[in-house]
Amino acid sequence: MSTEGKLRPVTTHRLMEMKQRGEKIAMLTAYDYSTARIMDEAGMDVILVGDSAANVMAGFESTLPITLDHMIYHAQSVVRAVERALVVVDLPFGTYQGNSKQALASAIRIMKETEASAVKLEGGAEILESVERILCAGIPIMGHLGLTPQSIHKFGTYNVRAKEDAEAERLLSDAKLLEQAGCFAVVLEKIPAELGARVSQSLQIPTISIGAGGGCDGQVLVVHDMLGINNEFSPRFLRRYADLYSVMTGAFKGYLEDVKSGDFPNPQEQY
Ligand code: KIV
Repeated sequence: MSTEGKLRPVTTHRLMEMKQRGEKIAMLTAYDYSTARIMDEAGMDVILVGDSAANVMAGFESTLPITLDHMIYHAQSVVRAVERALVVVDLPFGTYQGNSKQALASAIRIMKETEASAVKLEGGAEILESVERILCAGIPIMGHLGLTPQSIHKFGTYNVRAKEDAEAERLLSDAKLLEQAGCFAVVLEKIPAELGARVSQSLQIPTISIGAGGGCDGQVLVVHDMLGINNEFSPRFLRRYADLYSVMTGAFKGYLEDVKSGDFPNPQEQY
């Protein structure tokens, strides 16, 4: 809190300052008002309205089906809850690749209709024109390299990326390209920790890791995974901070039993 008792919002500039003084950046995904409110009050630096909403909120196999309208709905709910964290919103598949004018129109819709602070795009050199056009409009961009789930049909698997030298060099060059273009940060997903550290040391802007190791400037996890709601997903990079699957199952079963037995509601729980 500042001296006036008001929270000092996290900005893209503050993230850069955090990197400069070696303070790690904590980021999580959120898709709804109630979760985002708890997360913001806990002091999260960045909240990502990720297109992983397609998986964990809507039950799709990949992130490809989610639409711009869906992302805007989730982002509006999150922004309404947040007072301090920087809110970043994923541009979904098909709204920015291959057509920079469409990319700008998509980013403008997100900024205007949600009042979030920035957008995130997956890719490097192949989306540079879209990145430059969006940045020209004054919209901050977080990049995303390594395992980029919107390209899952090109990769074929969710395995670790950039293990070979050629792909590692391409990733480093893409990261530098994004920095030169003016991106304020870049997510590195599922790459060797050594490469994550190398990219982080080569850039002035912060890197945020999801499975890219402790040498990055910050970390991000999908909230359903770290809370243990989704107990079928156990990649090596995931640390579970709760077992909400068990907690929720216990609560649902307890309620079910109480309703069936007539124990709920008791006299104090009715008018
Ligand atoms: O959509 C998402 O949740 C993401 C994170 C995995 C970085 O892009």
